[in-house]
Amino acid sequence: MAAPMMQTAYQPHPSLKMKAAVWKGNKNISIDEVPKPTITTPDDAIVHVTHCTICGSDLHMYEGSIDKSMEKGDIMGHEAIGVVEDVGSQMDPKHEMHDLYGHRLAGIFGYTKVFGGYPGDQAEFCRVPNADLVCVKIPKDIDPKKVLGLADVTLTAWHACELAEVKEGSTVGVWGCGPVGLSIQRLAKLRGAKKVYAMDYDEKRLQIAKSFGMIPVHESKHKATAGYILSQEPRGLDCAIDAVGYRCEVSGEHKATRSGPGEGGSCEAVNEIIKATRKRGNVALIGDFFFTTNNFPIGAMMEKGITVRGGQLFSQKYMAQLLELVLNGKYDPSWMFTAEDQLENVGDCYEKFFSHQVPGGLKILMKTEYGRQLEASGKYA
Ligand SMILES: NC(=O)c1ccc[n+]([C@@H]2O[C@H](COP(=O)([O-])OP(=O)(O)OC[C@H]3O[C@@H](n4cnc5c(N)ncnc54)[C@H](O)[C@@H]3O)[C@@H](O)[C@H]2O)c1
Ligand SMILES: [Zn+2]
Repeated sequence: MAAPMMQTAYQPHPSLKMKAAVWKGNKNISIDEVPKPTITTPDDAIVHVTHCTICGSDLHMYEGSIDKSMEKGDIMGHEAIGVVEDVGSQMDPKHEMHDLYGHRLAGIFGYTKVFGGYPGDQAEFCRVPNADLVCVKIPKDIDPKKVLGLADVTLTAWHACELAEVKEGSTVGVWGCGPVGLSIQRLAKLRGAKKVYAMDYDEKRLQIAKSFGMIPVHESKHKATAGYILSQEPRGLDCAIDAVGYRCEVSGEHKATRSGPGEGGSCEAVNEIIKATRKRGNVALIGDFFFTTNNFPIGAMMEKGITVRGGQLFSQKYMAQLLELVLNGKYDPSWMFTAEDQLENVGDCYEKFFSHQVPGGLKILMKTEYGRQLEASGKYA
């Protein structure tokens, strides 16, 4: 049986370099030349990245509120597709990790020391440990946007619907209309939800939600969203989902507590969510929370018998099923890429995504030089 994979940093190539998005400090991510990764443990693959993108989760490190978990030089990113360039000697589907632990590893690429310190994939190459478990083989002729949209966001959104038990006839509320929130809304409809309320401050994103058939609710026009939702749905929501997370826009009171020591997150959206949920309803927290949070409505949660679940997505659990859905044409996640750019402009892409200035309002598809070459040669649609 192979030894467990202990090393998260990759073995650098002695001379070859690659371009990668490197964290240099708060609001400071840009392309650097760094050593190309090489096979570091026998069950690795080296993936030659063609397309990658920025997640709302990357903005936590960009903004700087979890900078203590970052080191200058860390490579960012966890949403990418590409071509396997090299594999280690034991890269076969033996599933030793699963046999050894009963569970698969749950690190996240490019996502702080807390999540394993794995160098990310907003880069020309990425070392993928336990590659037989982590890499997903996809048909060569598929539109890159469809698979990159699956890599994190669509799986996360499905997970949210599962946690909140969205089903035929459900009345659903989703706080947050970023790529994740909008995906949750669309998948909720696909699962048969009767009505979906979509909450945000961003007018452009609310208009996108409306164009997809959701009921948009502008947060600043309805200061207490729960009150508004209950005026429309007196029984309350069957399923309420947070797709905002700990950086949610906050009132003066929460701003003050967040800036002090020991209080990192804001649960203002969660307060509204629990109030707006029906008795015995389901809440899912899919937006990221890392810290403690003040004024959590524990009384309402307990007295109404609400089930609250949360967590990072279960990629492997849903990938086969959702890839099938995309290949069958039943769901196309490519809508979330409203702009395209080159990986070389990653610093600018971060700032645009952070400040909601991406043309079209949502995500940026970033192409590497290799991705552009493949496209020019007609390999990608
Ligand atoms: N659990 C997981 O596996 C997982 C996976 C991917 C992303 N995430 C998390 O999901 C969240 C959303 O990701 P994204 O890419 O859509 O990010 P995003 O930053 O683009 O979207 C967040 C949206 O929330 C809105 N918002 C802010 N405060 C609000 C409030 N009080 N009420 C309603 N809306 C509010 C913002 O205007 C923005 O449109 C992030 O926290 C991200 O870290 C979790
Ligand atoms: Zn993500």
